[in-house]
This record gives sequence, structure tokens and C-alpha cells, in this order.
Amino acid sequence: MSTNRQLTAAMFIGVRGDGIISFGSGQPDLPPPKEVYDILPDYNGFRYGLIQGQVNLREALAKQYPRSTADSFVITNGASEALDLALRAIAWMQKKKGGRKPKCLLCRPYYYSYLPLVEYAGFEPVFTDLVEGRIVYEDFERKVRDCKVVLINSPSNPTGRVEAIDTLRQIEKISEDLGIYVLSDEVYKDLIYVRENYLLKGLHVVTINSFSKTFGMTGLRVGYLWSLDNELVKTVIEMKSHTSMNTSIIAQEMACAATTVPKSYIDGQIRIWEERRDIIYRGMIDLGLDLWKPEGAFYVLPKIENPRDFVWDMFHEYKVITYLGEWFGAPDRVRFSYALDADKIEEGLDRVGRYLKKRSRH
Ligand SMILES: Cc1ncc(COP(=O)(O)O)c(C=O)c1O
Repeated sequence: MSTNRQLTAAMFIGVRGDGIISFGSGQPDLPPPKEVYDILPDYNGFRYGLIQGQVNLREALAKQYPRSTADSFVITNGASEALDLALRAIAWMQKKKGGRKPKCLLCRPYYYSYLPLVEYAGFEPVFTDLVEGRIVYEDFERKVRDCKVVLINSPSNPTGRVEAIDTLRQIEKISEDLGIYVLSDEVYKDLIYVRENYLLKGLHVVTINSFSKTFGMTGLRVGYLWSLDNELVKTVIEMKSHTSMNTSIIAQEMACAATTVPKSYIDGQIRIWEERRDIIYRGMIDLGLDLWKPEGAFYVLPKIENPRDFVWDMFHEYKVITYLGEWFGAPDRVRFSYALDADKIEEGLDRVGRYLKKRSRH
């Protein structure tokens, strides 16, 4: 029966209302900081902006990153465009040098856009499987040697895990020694429950970040990449000038205002996420599910029997949106985002419990 059940993430993105509880997309429900509205009364910018991004925003970011100037950043349409441009720029630079189709290493389970982006850019994907949601460096090292680029994401969507700092240092070293690009997707860097973020550094490290998650600004579409590799930055700007051109300038002004918010804003957010993490984690353990305890971001990835039927039935019979683990390279699991308030998480867990109970009787 499940073969006729077509499931795609696009079916669920933006779906809300009508008693639906969405554990679907990773969209913070918390409002952006009040500072971002302050720019609006006097705002008067409607012309094309710099392709690389507004200077004031890049200068504000340069203060947060070591050995940087505004030149090391490109402001993009969310982290999504930064990932796409970085991958395509690396592939393009490779192509100009000649040589065979380059390979890109992915840590599986991975954020669901990684695989299509890697393939659109013309890379051959290679996989290293995470164990308990973490990189096994021996396998990583063996496979990465043959690759031009690797994507890492800590804290991770969909696992909610944070990599050990020792592993991240080993990755920095092999990137430096072999000239392999590391695209370090740090969109959840401010949402870590267990330690401070570790910023990867090096000439071949490209850091990808975004205002979407930390500041609850997903729809404004402001992200960026940071790289000390001038050739890469120049190639990305060139590609962006022929594709999306500048990122929305009003959104960049709002993002620039967000860089001025006090650290207490971020600390307050983390407390809310941690409370929600505890509710969903405890609730799933009580339902007898097998899952990792999230250390960052806002996702859990429990094992679920017959995940396709689960996702389909939860939506059609119980009005609960969940995402198939298969989209993230984890076919025996289902991903839940807990970016929703505590009452809704409890209600959603209750519906999941009722469904699992009913299923166990058949
Ligand atoms: C790991 C990861 N990278 C990138 C993105 C895309 O973020 P943005 O809204 O900045 O494009 C997401 C969004 O869910 C994500 O989880």
C-alpha cells in the first residue's frame, strides 16, 4: 500500500492551521529581536546593491571572525544559496584546471538539501556513515583523501548531535595538509546546549552561516559564507552576479541590526530550546522510541518501524507533520523538528502515542 503514497518535503513546507501540529520544517516560531524593526521608519533603499553584500553587514561580521575583513564574506540568500554557490564555485574552479569529475564527501545522515546540491554542482557523492550521530574519523579520513570537498554540519540537522572538538581539529588538519575544501555549515552554531561552538579555521575552510535560525528570520533569506580563499570568494561573487545578483538589501539592513543584539538574547533563546528538547526527548523515551539526545539545533531522529506509513498516517489521520528519515539518508528513522511551543509538542507526542498504540494492536 505504501508504494502509492508519494511523500515529499515540499508537500509540507509552509502547511499550517486546521489543528495541524507540525514537527516538519526547521522554522523557529520565536519572534526576531526587536532591534531588527528599528531600521524600518527611515528605510529608503530600493536600488541594486553590491553583489558581495552591504559593506556595513560584512564589516559587522568581520568583527566576529578572526583574521577577517569585509572582503572575506559574501552575503547570500540564506545559507542555502551560500552552500549552492560554494559547491558550484569549487566545481567550476576544478573544471577550469581540467581533471576528472570531483568527489564530495557527505556525512550520513545529512541535511536533505546536501545531496541534490552536490549533484547539481556536478560532484560524485561519497558517504561516511555516522555512528550514534557522530563522525568516525578513521572512515572519514579513508574516504576524504579521494575528495575535493567535504560537507560538515555541527550541530547537525537531522541528528541534533555536536561533533567532538578533537574530531573537528583532525578535519582542519587533513583539509590543510591535502588542500581539501571543508564546507562547514554552522547555521546552528548559536543553538548548542553542551559547549561553546568551535569555529573551524583554515585556508580551505568555507564557513556557511545564516540569520534564519539564531534570529528567527527564515523568510528574510539572509545568510553568508566566510572564506580566506580569495579565488573562491571572487568566483562566488562572479557566479552570484549572473544568478540572483544582490541579496535583498532591506533584509541585509535588518540582519545588520540583528548583529547588535546583546548576548543575553541568544542565551534566552537557548533556555527555551533546551526546555523543549527535554520535553520531546523525555516524551519519546516514555513512548519507547530509540533516539539520540540532541546536543544542539532543534531536531530528533527516532527509529520508527515502517516510517513511510508512519509519516503518511500521522499526517492524514492525526494531522501531525513529520519528515521521512529517508530524505536525510536515514531510511529507518523519522525526523521531528521541535521548533514549536511546549503545549504543541505535548499534544503532538500524545497523538504519536495514540497512533503507535493503535498500530501495535494490529
Ligand atoms: C543544516 C542546514 N543548513 C542550511 C539550511 C538552510 O538555511 P537558510 O534558511 O539560511 O537557507 C538549513 C535549514 O533548515 C539547515 O538545517
